[in-house]
Amino acid sequence: MSTARPDPRALGTLALTTGRAAAAFVREQRPAGRVDVAATKSSPTDPVTEIDRGTEHLVRSRILADRPHDTILGEEGGETAGEESLSSAGAVRWVVDPIDGTVNFVYGLPHYAVAIAAEVDGVVEAACVIDVASGHEYTAVRGGGAFVRESPSRRAVRLRAVGPSQMSHALVATGFNYVPEIRARQAQAVARMLGDVRDIRRTGSAALDLCALAAGRLDAYVEQGLAPWDIAAGGLIAREAGAVVTGLDGPPDARLVVAAPEAFAQEFIRLVHACGF
Ligand code: IPD
Ligand code: CA
Ligand code: CA
Repeated sequence: MSTARPDPRALGTLALTTGRAAAAFVREQRPAGRVDVAATKSSPTDPVTEIDRGTEHLVRSRILADRPHDTILGEEGGETAGEESLSSAGAVRWVVDPIDGTVNFVYGLPHYAVAIAAEVDGVVEAACVIDVASGHEYTAVRGGGAFVRESPSRRAVRLRAVGPSQMSHALVATGFNYVPEIRARQAQAVARMLGDVRDIRRTGSAALDLCALAAGRLDAYVEQGLAPWDIAAGGLIAREAGAVVTGLDGPPDARLVVAAPEAFAQEFIRLVHACGF
């Protein structure tokens, strides 16, 4: 087993080639009309399809074919420990959401993504989010900026998060957890925020919300009840585009994820707290 610290760019390349194969699989497998729900997870409205499972299987096989000792945390399969213990220096853990935006996917709303992040020693070093319907590829390597390509053959364009001129002009994305008690609290906080901002968007994919923030198509993002696979890849992309991505009292976690361009972040975080998120 190698003890050399992995090259983040090589991890980024593997994330992207794997993400492309996974997005192609999702596109091919999706039948016309509604997709059958195979089971539900955190609540009766939290669906999983056979295509979510098949996509995660494909992602796991591709990553392990190249890096058999790595750990993988995937939404559908949980964490499978690699031979390389996560406590040893340079250990890699992949964090995978095979389809982020499964409700959109089930209904045929063209807004869902494959999200893959590679952590080294617990820090996300490389990530890709592929918007399956449009084919747009969002990528980042820590310290190297965030980029979008409209397709594999197009040139990569650097992303830059842009804030609003004032709070009342802020277009804010959010989402609602599948668990009714959590979403009831979220709804109250969002209702308090509505009067202070331009408007709210609920697109159904946290990973794509973070990419939209990175691309300047949103001014800010706030959500509660997310899992690591919802935010690992999009979080790095937003940060590398100049956004602050933070949580309640430290890194983002299930209690809170807030993201906004650097110059606007403190003001937005104050509003988030004042609204009771
Ligand atoms: C969901 C999406 C959604 C967010 C939910 C997530 P899934 O992920 O990211 O935007 O609001 O909380 O669970 O279930 O489609 O992978
Ligand atoms: Ca998700
Ligand atoms: Ca998912």
